[in-house]
Amino acid sequence: LSGRRAFLASAGALVAATGLARAVRASQADPSFGEHQGGIATPQQTQTYFAALDLIAKKPGDVVRMLRAWTDAAARLTRGQETPADSGEAMGLGAAGLTVTFGLGAGLFDNRYGLAARRPEALVDLPAFNGDQLVPERSGGDLSIQACANDPQVAFHAVRQLARLADGVARVRWTQTGFLPATAPGETPRNLMGFKDGTRNAGDLARSVWVGDEGPAWMRGGSYVVVRQVRMALEHWDKTDVDFQEEVMGRRKSSGAPIGRERERDAPDFEGADQDGNPTIAENAHLRLAAPETNHGTQILRRGYSYNDGANFTAERWPPWRQGVEYDAGLLFIAYQRDPRTGFIRLFENMAKIDALNQYTTHVGSGLFACPGGVGEGQFLAQGLFDAA
Ligand code: HEM
Repeated sequence: LSGRRAFLASAGALVAATGLARAVRASQADPSFGEHQGGIATPQQTQTYFAALDLIAKKPGDVVRMLRAWTDAAARLTRGQETPADSGEAMGLGAAGLTVTFGLGAGLFDNRYGLAARRPEALVDLPAFNGDQLVPERSGGDLSIQACANDPQVAFHAVRQLARLADGVARVRWTQTGFLPATAPGETPRNLMGFKDGTRNAGDLARSVWVGDEGPAWMRGGSYVVVRQVRMALEHWDKTDVDFQEEVMGRRKSSGAPIGRERERDAPDFEGADQDGNPTIAENAHLRLAAPETNHGTQILRRGYSYNDGANFTAERWPPWRQGVEYDAGLLFIAYQRDPRTGFIRLFENMAKIDALNQYTTHVGSGLFACPGGVGEGQFLAQGLFDAA
């Protein structure tokens, strides 16, 4: 898309708004044992440390031993206790709201561990999306650990201990830190583009997030997480008028209200148009393309964080107008759903092609992991997957 006119003139059917989804902020108690793993429906902490690991174990028994050790260690860590041979940097910091969420990637189900027949159907390989510029060193992995806390050192500490416990069984493939602003309770945090992000999210978790009877027993009460490192062209964004930024998003920057409405939580008006017939919310606005009203009710639980990996400086051989700082920053998009085929993939296949936001974003990292249901007392994570295997 080259500009405002192309933006407004873009073709596409106006899809009638059907039942409006209520904004639901996730709120749930967060034990390390229970129906669900922590860190999914848990209200978002301000910091994350996300890691993907590659399995190097030769035998399934080694994987089981590691998962046992991880389960015990995660229970200790989320209570603010030390792990065996703890590295110590979280001493005195308490639990800081820590949650640890484990995921299993497709690689666990390849031919190495005899689990190929047990790969959940929903654990597909993500298709290549339009515009993807995925970097292998920022993508994939056989296992994932998402540690979230209100202290960055507590989140890092958790992953560090778990990675040490995996010694000889799995090794870290990529990691990404993320952060959110410390907004007042009930306020929606802003992302690095300056917009409130998370206003409408997930809806009914039982319908959109938690795996039910359709999955294997060890996935019940679990979920699938899609992680995407979405780099933002902030230099380009910052040169864009706020009016146009708002058209791209479909919402007002300051209030977060859908264009044509007053308040942040007002329902978007997808049918409104001006006297010239231009839709109130543009045909290719992010909000319209991501909304349940235009996607057969599809909803996912977004639980992403901003990331900031420093800056690059463009080479002197570039023309002067291209010289300067380039931030390596953006959105660590993290989304939970009951089934990625009817969640992220359904939404993003279309968005990847026509979302106006794509002018300012590049997807550089990607992962999909099956996050098993919560752990029962005395059990270890995904135990049912290995029972009588
Ligand atoms: C850098 C990239 C992105 C930015 C800055 C961004 C920003 C936003 C903003 C500001 C909103 C409106 C506020 C809200 O309702 O939460 C929103 C909504 C949403 N976005 Fe994104 N987003 C990004 C990438 C994505 C991607 C890759 C997806 C993939 C499916 C996605 C899915 C959604 C969904 C489902 C909604 C809620 C729509 C609704 O229910 O009204 N976003 N996003």
